[in-house]
Amino acid sequence: MTQQLPGTTDPVLAAGDEPQSNASGNAYFGDILETRLSRRSLLRGSLAAAVAGAMATSLPFGGAFAGQGGRGPSLGFAAIPTSRADAVVVPEGYRVQAMIPWGTSLAEGTPDFAPDNGADDQAQQVGSHHDGMHFFPLDGRSDEGLLVLNHEYIEPRFMHAAAAGLALDSGGFPERPDGSRDADQVRRELHAHGVSIVHLRRGDDGRWHLIKDAHNRRVTGLTPMRLAGPVAGSDHVITRYSPDGRMTRGTLNNCANGVTPWGTYMASEENWAGYFANRAETIDRRQARYGITRRDTSRYQWHKAAGGGDEFVRFDATPRGASAAEDYRNEPHAFGYMVEIDPFDAEAAPIKRTHLGRFAHEGVVFAPAVEGEPVVCYSGDDARFEYIYKFVSARPYHAATADGSLLDEGTLYAAKFHADGSGEWLALAPGENGLTPENGFADLADILVNARSAADTAGATKMDRPEWGAVDPASGQVYFTLTNNTRREPGQEDAANPRANNTFGHIIRWREAGGQDATRFQWDIFLLAGDRDSGRDANGAPLDDDAILASPDGLWMDAERRLWIQTDISESVMNDGIYEVFGNNQMLVANPESGELKRFLTGPIGQEITGVTMTPDRRTLFVNVQHPGATTEASAFAAGDYASHWPDGGDAIPRSATLAISREDGGIVGA
Ligand code: FEO
Ligand code: CA
Ligand code: CA
Repeated sequence: MTQQLPGTTDPVLAAGDEPQSNASGNAYFGDILETRLSRRSLLRGSLAAAVAGAMATSLPFGGAFAGQGGRGPSLGFAAIPTSRADAVVVPEGYRVQAMIPWGTSLAEGTPDFAPDNGADDQAQQVGSHHDGMHFFPLDGRSDEGLLVLNHEYIEPRFMHAAAAGLALDSGGFPERPDGSRDADQVRRELHAHGVSIVHLRRGDDGRWHLIKDAHNRRVTGLTPMRLAGPVAGSDHVITRYSPDGRMTRGTLNNCANGVTPWGTYMASEENWAGYFANRAETIDRRQARYGITRRDTSRYQWHKAAGGGDEFVRFDATPRGASAAEDYRNEPHAFGYMVEIDPFDAEAAPIKRTHLGRFAHEGVVFAPAVEGEPVVCYSGDDARFEYIYKFVSARPYHAATADGSLLDEGTLYAAKFHADGSGEWLALAPGENGLTPENGFADLADILVNARSAADTAGATKMDRPEWGAVDPASGQVYFTLTNNTRREPGQEDAANPRANNTFGHIIRWREAGGQDATRFQWDIFLLAGDRDSGRDANGAPLDDDAILASPDGLWMDAERRLWIQTDISESVMNDGIYEVFGNNQMLVANPESGELKRFLTGPIGQEITGVTMTPDRRTLFVNVQHPGATTEASAFAAGDYASHWPDGGDAIPRSATLAISREDGGIVGA
């Protein structure tokens, strides 16, 4: 074997979060104190007003608009404490099964995970870094279905036998003395990205089992896929691979997911920009506004794979040919979308739906579809000071004929939150909100490829890293997590992002003014994450020990309206300093009416909890554990001393895996 050395890359790329790249002059509402004070009249009751007055900023707490009324769903379990254990903990009366870890073989006769697996093995195994997911029942059953899950990224040091003994941190990878990478390692890494479709059945023993049949399949960083919507076929996406701009290869950094009203799966492309190098003198806004800077490096240096295969060199966007059809200057413009996958049709190519906009898509969440009304969905752009988006289809939803083409015509909007609790959706469409050729937006494709720049021009509100959204199935109210933003400085606060140096994050919610396709809304803050001093529930009351949390990220409301909240405290600060009190990343449940909040689950060391779905009978809850052991320091890794050995225990390499959680008495999970 060729000698391998520790390779490393820019820590910003390694950390995975997009570098801050919004330099627009949109207002921070730093001068809104007067309006904010007048907003106090909207606060519910004297307690909220007193709490708000006692805090550094006065906050529009959840009383400004009511929920559906009534008491909301029960949270009948006993909350669990925070944890630092290398284990998953659930409430008394619950049981938990860890299954389908990264590397699980999906096909008969193919190997399960081993450090010396090759790229071809990984192509038939569950991917790495499990994230958003959805359970698609077979024949409506609650004991059998297809679990479809995203794989956000990889940790090469845990992946390759060649990494053993090298001093590598969580962003490191083995490389050759000349700086190139082993091509089979790179292909294996591409195969560990993407989406897994996994056939599961619950046995008489109550445990879930993998069924190895033709339902199982992988979508990876190499799978051919179609572009659809206004960007497809435009000059922005012409490449050597696709001179007509209608195809691309692979999907990357699939974070949260969505489920369409017609029963397909949507995988998001979040922190894709770090995968690209570009040595051009000038880098235009289609890349610069997304964090691609002039550089010869990338997150995993895939463009430096030995042999220079076409599937690798495309990750270097430097113009080299006489035209875009002769190189990969446009390759980054084919990423940053929501990708539609039909889990039941193995022959259908995944489709990137470009009308939902190009940004660091955390995910997408659909409002309940109404016959004869437009389809409506919401997306967050997870980077500091980026935006929340909404798409409204041009054509109405009809259950009998609905399909993904509904997402190819319509209007993309960006959210503007006013200090008085109102808000508006700013259309990102030709001629609207300053999006004219004179202002640099040639047409709709140009607007969508440059969605961030378009939202800048339109004047949307810069948010504290929008992550997952959830829609209340009863009321249509929308909830979004804003995970944190330590770069928001004093004076940059606004009513919707009320804390400077927002270390712990918050959850915002809104109600559309009229139908779900309305262009105006009323908003409120549902939760300020934090410790007992800084956290506040929907009533403005401090969080107790059963409810403290930081960096809310995953979010989902189940059919009984329990709001499931998952945390992603970065491994760089987990169990340290101001984050120590929160322990390992966790999942909590909230009652959207009362604001009651209780901790339901804590995960092992170094991971984040992300991805949440249930069987139709709500008796099995599926949750993902991503990147256990990521806190392992480079020197400890070299010594084979991993911070976590979850889920296998012993001295095993830690691996992402899925949890199946149920009640010992067979009841509804969370009730
Ligand atoms: Fe992939 Fe924003 O978390
Ligand atoms: Ca996330
Ligand atoms: Ca996150």
